[in-house]
Amino acid sequence: MKTQNLLFYLLLFFCTTATSQTTIQPGTTLSASNPNKTWSSPNNTFYIGFSQVGFSSSYTLTINYNGGVPIWTAGNATTTVDSKGSFQFLSSGNLRLLNGSGAIVWDSNTDRLGVTTASLDDLGNLVLKNGTFFVWSSFDNPTDTIVPNQTFTVNQGLRSGSYSFRFLSTGNLTLRWNDNIVYWNKGLNSSVDANLTSPALGLQPNGILTIFDVALTSGSYIVAYSNDYAEGSTRLRFLRLEKDGNFRMYSTDIGSGTATMVWSALTDQCEIFGYCGNMGICSYNELSSSLSPTCGCPSENFEPVDVNDSRQGCKRKVEIESCVGSATMLVLDNVKFLTYLPETVSQGFFVGISACRLNCLSQSSCIASTSLSDGTGLCYLKNQGFISGYQNPALPSTSYVKICGPAQPNPPPGVQIAEKSKSSRLRVWVVLVVVVITLLGLIAVEGGLWWWCCRNSPKFGSLSAQYALLEYASGAPVQFSYKELQHSTKEFKEKLGAGGFGAVYKGVLDNRTVVAVKQLEGIEQGEKQFRMEEQPSQRPTMGKVVQMLEGISEIERPPAPKTITEGSFGGSNVSASSNVSALSTFEVSAPALSSSSSYQTIGISPLASVRNIGSTSSLLHSDSN
Ligand SMILES: *[C@@H]1O[C@H](CO)[C@@H](O)[C@H](O)[C@H]1NC(C)=O
Ligand SMILES: *[C@@H]1O[C@H](CO)[C@@H](O)[C@H](O)[C@H]1NC(C)=O
Ligand SMILES: *[C@@H]1O[C@H](CO)[C@@H](O)[C@H](O)[C@H]1NC(C)=O
Ligand SMILES: *[C@@H]1O[C@H](CO)[C@@H](O)[C@H](O)[C@H]1NC(C)=O
Ligand SMILES: *[C@@H]1O[C@H](CO)[C@@H](O)[C@H](O)[C@H]1NC(C)=O
Ligand SMILES: *[C@@H]1O[C@H](CO)[C@@H](O)[C@H](O)[C@H]1NC(C)=O
Ligand SMILES: *[C@@H]1O[C@H](CO)[C@@H](O)[C@H](O)[C@H]1NC(C)=O
Ligand SMILES: *[C@@H]1O[C@H](CO)[C@@H](O)[C@H](O)[C@H]1NC(C)=O
Ligand SMILES: *[C@@H]1O[C@H](CO)[C@@H](O)[C@H](O)[C@H]1NC(C)=O
Ligand SMILES: *[C@@H]1O[C@H](CO)[C@@H](O)[C@H](O)[C@H]1NC(C)=O
Repeated sequence: MKTQNLLFYLLLFFCTTATSQTTIQPGTTLSASNPNKTWSSPNNTFYIGFSQVGFSSSYTLTINYNGGVPIWTAGNATTTVDSKGSFQFLSSGNLRLLNGSGAIVWDSNTDRLGVTTASLDDLGNLVLKNGTFFVWSSFDNPTDTIVPNQTFTVNQGLRSGSYSFRFLSTGNLTLRWNDNIVYWNKGLNSSVDANLTSPALGLQPNGILTIFDVALTSGSYIVAYSNDYAEGSTRLRFLRLEKDGNFRMYSTDIGSGTATMVWSALTDQCEIFGYCGNMGICSYNELSSSLSPTCGCPSENFEPVDVNDSRQGCKRKVEIESCVGSATMLVLDNVKFLTYLPETVSQGFFVGISACRLNCLSQSSCIASTSLSDGTGLCYLKNQGFISGYQNPALPSTSYVKICGPAQPNPPPGVQIAEKSKSSRLRVWVVLVVVVITLLGLIAVEGGLWWWCCRNSPKFGSLSAQYALLEYASGAPVQFSYKELQHSTKEFKEKLGAGGFGAVYKGVLDNRTVVAVKQLEGIEQGEKQFRMEEQPSQRPTMGKVVQMLEGISEIERPPAPKTITEGSFGGSNVSASSNVSALSTFEVSAPALSSSSSYQTIGISPLASVRNIGSTSSLLHSDSN
């Protein structure tokens, strides 16, 4: 008994999963209120279901690749229903999309054709059959997408808004605006000598877009390779005519839900007719970080049709009908008004640039013109109708638009951004100043603290001297405190000698490095003064001492320092050789210093280092030239 029951349940389970996934029974319904309920293909590669459009309350019924990338839409790319909408497979044999009110939004129109089953296969094809024959399929009724194994013939088309894609019997692939203007037309390579009989366009699973025809020598002709062709075995490639009018190939990994563009028919989006709407000007704003085109109006004589959607185009603030006879021509440099067949034949003239402007001004039917400066001498006069503009500094053309009243050019594209960056630069300055002031304050506080607690600590004194020596060896300017000098020269008593350059005292630093310290005239008195100062606040700053030393070394310059033979570091030397080598030859190590012939003036180094910075920066400058 129990095994029988189990078998029954197992059978039931098997049957339900098998039927719900492979074929769709008549009378089954999907509802937008439960987007989680879907119809899947046998191995779950594709599923049919509702999906929400952004965060709106509209839903589309789509066939999706596992992960959520749609490959077919019931109706067209803009067909939606509300949250009470439903999708039904009726027993009469048709598929039907209804909105909440019960109105039919889309229908397969297959009733009374004997349809008995609907199914979704693992290639993504939704099929209605009358027993054995295909009566209807989503592959034969594409919306805006082509997937591998979906053979596209000359009788089919893709559509997205005003744009459509067609495959011609000559093998040409075309993109049109309003079924009329062909803005992209790609034929077979001229070296292919064949009259096609019944060509088919197919996307191979590995990402190669191919035309198949028996008349072709190898049976096929390759139109385009995806940039990832032959990569990724679980990857789906598909072609889609986008709402922006471009025809692109995408790649999506199973389950990812995102697609990557791997080929596009037009590389220049601004060449797509009507991309920016009527009277809209397409351009690439090099100041913006994104590479996508932007839509604007020709001048401030125009305003956008929809402030929230720049792609809807522009309209004149004052219609030209209201100023007949007093209209003017607005000049637009590096702008062309897109002209494709059949327009080119009827609107092209060979006239000069002035005539191109004046002819349009004088003809009441003309509203705009473009003069090409590409050597063709062509002028296009645009009549009432749809005008699609393209601005690019690389375009060798000038365009004119008829307007009422004086021209009010757009502000230069940089202005707004420059203002923005000016204010941000100001902000940077404020931040910098605050940071510097804070740092200075911190340094002052720390210095004060240090001085207050450590001024009499001998331990700290030797420590600082060691640091100073480390710096000394590195060739960097070194400062010694007056106390250190006083200490190392035994209060300026161990005299080495004297000459025109002044008195020099010997100093032995803690690590036995011998340095010479100039005794400077006039400082003796100061020295005495310093020694007498007991009040901390009266202690001279190091800067002051250095200044004094520097000042004296200047005075000493005229008499040539006879005794200085090596490592000479007279004031004149410093000012003349203002590069690093002057410092590096002066690297101090005790043995190299013959204490009698080598002299160092403390306080010159800072001067030299300033010059270094100057000369280095000027070097960089000349390097960059
Ligand atoms: C659909 O499934 C998700 C999680 O998978 C869940 O969060 C959500 O509530 C479900 N929606 C409905 C309408 O059941
Ligand atoms: C349903 O569609 C009809 C016709 O397309 C429309 O008039 C109606 O407003 C729609 N109802 C809802 C709730 O969207
Ligand atoms: C599902 O079936 C299709 C066609 O038979 C096959 O190409 C695909 O690899 C299968 N996918 C999985 C996940 O098994
Ligand atoms: C299915 O349709 C085909 C052609 O459309 C027809 O020849 C065939 O008889 C139909 N089969 C059934 C069972 O209706
Ligand atoms: C799908 O297309 C590929 C190559 O284009 C082919 O090898 C394969 O047999 C097709 N699969 C089906 C089920 O038609
Ligand atoms: C899309 O379908 C709707 C009806 O659902 C129709 O009104 C509209 O014109 C169609 N758009 C295009 C571009 O065919
Ligand atoms: C096919 O495209 C080529 C350009 O690739 C073009 O010269 C030719 O006129 C086109 N043919 C048709 C019928 O559009
Ligand atoms: C046409 O094909 C030939 C040889 O196959 C090739 O050299 C040439 O570059 C192709 N021309 C175009 C426009 O693709
Ligand atoms: C294609 O057709 C034209 C005439 O329609 C003919 O002149 C030409 O030879 C044919 N080319 C081939 C390869 O058959
Ligand atoms: C533009 O969007 C804002 C806020 O989203 C809205 O208030 C305004 O009405 C919209 N304007 C137009 C013309 O749609």
